Amino acid sequence: MEREKLLNAIKPRMPEKRYIHTVGVMETAIQLAQRYDEDVKKAEIAAILHDIAKYADEEWMREIVRINQLGDELISWGSEILHGPVGAWIAQTEFQIDDDAILNAIRYHTTGRANMMKLEKILFIADMIEPNRKFPGVDNLREIAQQDLTVAMRACIHHSVAHLIKTELAIYPWSIECYNYYIRED
Ligand SMILES: [Fe+2]
Ligand SMILES: [Fe+2]
Repeated sequence: MEREKLLNAIKPRMPEKRYIHTVGVMETAIQLAQRYDEDVKKAEIAAILHDIAKYADEEWMREIVRINQLGDELISWGSEILHGPVGAWIAQTEFQIDDDAILNAIRYHTTGRANMMKLEKILFIADMIEPNRKFPGVDNLREIAQQDLTVAMRACIHHSVAHLIKTELAIYPWSIECYNYYIRED
């Protein structure tokens, strides 16, 4: 699908601020795909659709998880976790995306997981470092992202798990698996 068509399809489903974030993720994901020899079109599609479920009704998302057996363990979590797997489901059913790399990139873009595919890492990192993100340490992550994708993945998941601990929020098991996997990689 054309970039403009996809952007027009997602725009009414999120506030202006999230749309601007999405365009930032798209530009960053495309740049990383070029740098690390990944399919640029796939990076573009995954980035545009990654937050499509972010503002969907939470109860509706739980229903989608139940009906389509996306994973029982998801049911007790909020939209912060649900919007990844449900976003992948929307990409597949509504936008007819059948590429596993794109679907996995959307599915795991918030949590990460162990042993991620290249496109999954690109989207996870792009989501954290896109130009509109402003948090202490983001410039360092941006720099590492230009040097090595796996090292950047390690730095990003470390940052995100450390942030969850600091703010006393629960950590989804996929994120812990992701952290353990990349912290032992060198
Ligand atoms: Fe997201
Ligand atoms: Fe996002």
